[in-house]
Amino acid sequence: MELLRVDAREPDPIVIGRAADELKRGGLVAFPTETVYGLGVNALDERAVERLYRVKRRPAVNPLIVHVADVPAARALVTRWPDAAERLANAFWPGPVTLVLPKRAHVPDLVTAGLPAVGVRVPAHPVALALLRACALPIAAPSANRSTELSPTRAEHVVKSLGDEIEMVLDAGATDVGIESAVIDLTGARPRLLRPGALDPRRIAEVAGELEFTRHDPDADAPRVSPGMMERHYAPRARLVVVGHRLGELARAHELAALVRARGGRVARLDFGGLRVEVDVARSFAAQDAEGVARVLYDTLHAFDEAQVALILVEAPPEGTEWLGVRDRLSRAAASE
Ligand code: TXA
Ligand code: MG
Repeated sequence: MELLRVDAREPDPIVIGRAADELKRGGLVAFPTETVYGLGVNALDERAVERLYRVKRRPAVNPLIVHVADVPAARALVTRWPDAAERLANAFWPGPVTLVLPKRAHVPDLVTAGLPAVGVRVPAHPVALALLRACALPIAAPSANRSTELSPTRAEHVVKSLGDEIEMVLDAGATDVGIESAVIDLTGARPRLLRPGALDPRRIAEVAGELEFTRHDPDADAPRVSPGMMERHYAPRARLVVVGHRLGELARAHELAALVRARGGRVARLDFGGLRVEVDVARSFAAQDAEGVARVLYDTLHAFDEAQVALILVEAPPEGTEWLGVRDRLSRAAASE
């Protein structure tokens, strides 16, 4: 595996050219986007896509997001481009919003996990955009971690998780948004939010019209809203518990922490200033707005994993639509297998 440093604002065209050549050869190249690092392959190369699933240990039912440089490249992959797509693309691209639309025949079924629709997005990162332009290919890229692990926000995370099995990692430092893009299904009568991102869904609704959103209920028998929206996902190695502000929850957190520590385990705490359980490693969110918290969330959880803690207590984020993405990732990380 080659680890190549590249400037986040002005990527060296020679480095980008080498990564583009690797993609054209069918290689696996991890690269930064504004959300998290992606593990890219040529979306039209079925053998490369197949290898990508294997390396990630990703279930074949979980479709991939295809990254493109601009709107025309996105439209070349889909058979319909409704008004809502045009408005969302104008408002948010390049940016952390993925649009799901009926796919054209040349998009391999493997990319969409057999679904008739494909997820597309234009990422807002100079390195990702330079790479897309240099290879002139659609790049299928899931987050560059093994399936169900935390997504990487730094090249080091990628190297640790997948370094032995991929060709190249472009290292441009920490990503900015910090959690994955919002995924919006535009194949139905109304836009449906399949996965919230860091963007307040109210801002998406202002552009796309009223949004449907049904978070998958792990106890319900109903089919999952999006294939691959597995309940346990985006998870650190440690057990993670979100602690609400009710007395019962606080008491349980104290008990859990004491129990784990009595057995010699290390406990970490991540809080907004309102969770005072005694722990071994404590971090408070510096920024208290949803975007600021999303930016550092995975990075902090990765650091706790590095510190080999057994239990992570996270103070529940505030209510409010802007927190939907952070709450979603926390509850997935907390879900038991
Ligand atoms: O921010 C992001 O979206 C990052 C960066 C690398 O772009 N990518 C990412 O990919 O998070 P991944 O594979 O980890 O998550 C893709 C999500 C999955 O939840 C998948 O189910 C959904 O997007 N998705 C992709 N294509 C879909 C489709 N055709 N229909 C429904 N859901 C789809
Ligand atoms: Mg992922």
